Amino acid sequence: MKTPVFVQLHHDSAEHIREELIHGLTANPQPGGATVSPKFLYDALGSRLFEAITELPEYYPTRTEAAIFKAHVQAMVRSAPQGATLIDLGAGNCGKAASLFGLLAPSRYVAVDISVDFLRATLAALQRQYPAIDMVGIGLDFSQTLDLPPEAGEPDAGPRVLFYPGSSIGNFTPRQALDFLRQVREACGPVAGSGLLIGVDLVKDATELEAAYDDALGVTAAFNRNLISNVNRLVGTDLRLADWAHHALFNRNESRIEMHLVAQRDLTVQWPGGQRAFSQGERIHTENSYKWTVSGFSQLLREAGFAEPLVWTDAPTRDAGRFAVMWAGA
Ligand code: AVI
Repeated sequence: MKTPVFVQLHHDSAEHIREELIHGLTANPQPGGATVSPKFLYDALGSRLFEAITELPEYYPTRTEAAIFKAHVQAMVRSAPQGATLIDLGAGNCGKAASLFGLLAPSRYVAVDISVDFLRATLAALQRQYPAIDMVGIGLDFSQTLDLPPEAGEPDAGPRVLFYPGSSIGNFTPRQALDFLRQVREACGPVAGSGLLIGVDLVKDATELEAAYDDALGVTAAFNRNLISNVNRLVGTDLRLADWAHHALFNRNESRIEMHLVAQRDLTVQWPGGQRAFSQGERIHTENSYKWTVSGFSQLLREAGFAEPLVWTDAPTRDAGRFAVMWAGA
């Protein structure tokens, strides 16, 4: 009986995390103001709140992507090679990739997430269900560098399917997305038939977008404001939840949803060794979620070295879709 292999490559010291957060908090009000990376949204509670967001009526991406997979999975699987190594970027609970196992029949499943601790129990359970598939869990911050270890398999050993669903590509700037996709193209390896299956959220009406990031129940507000508690824990700041409100807006010029925390009064945030004053209305920028057009993202894929992608959306005419799933051959 095969057993999953685990490799933890990402190690971030508490000191490094503290420095990164203080650097963002003390950034000049002009031009960008204070920022905190969206990765700090995902402590244990933040991850649960994100799960809850995916069930909200206003948050269309998760269910729309699921519907596209359901409607077009046969065509997707026909485009991708059988018996490949399936490399799941940001695997989480591995659910989306596992739903492809039956049709795609991968020979190896490589689940990549920031910490293998998130993957252990799930991969062990999947291994029992799919005893013939080699299972590998890798703890890697691939938003920095997508450097896969030998346990992922040799790049020339067979075709590879890189899998990046969920529209997380939108949390990169276009420049970062291009750099990342170039690395993904490289990680596809030299074997013919390899490629990338990716979920991309599309530009749409600002009202629908802003509702998706500022829902009536206040779950997204809680998700954003929970970052305050996480930063307090990591840096020792004295940010008070009551002083900060959630704000989401669609910045059409940049084609992105922005999430901010807005100071509700003049205040000074203190931490061991430093402080920063915020005026009422001043913001901490916590997340960007870029929205693409089908043609804009196809061009980005080509610039990254992929072939013209196959595109599936939730609309009969692909440009009218709310969300797209694309297969880009390497
Ligand atoms: C993880 N990521 C794709 C989500 C998004 O839509 O950008 C994160 C999120 N932020 C607020 N709601 C959901």
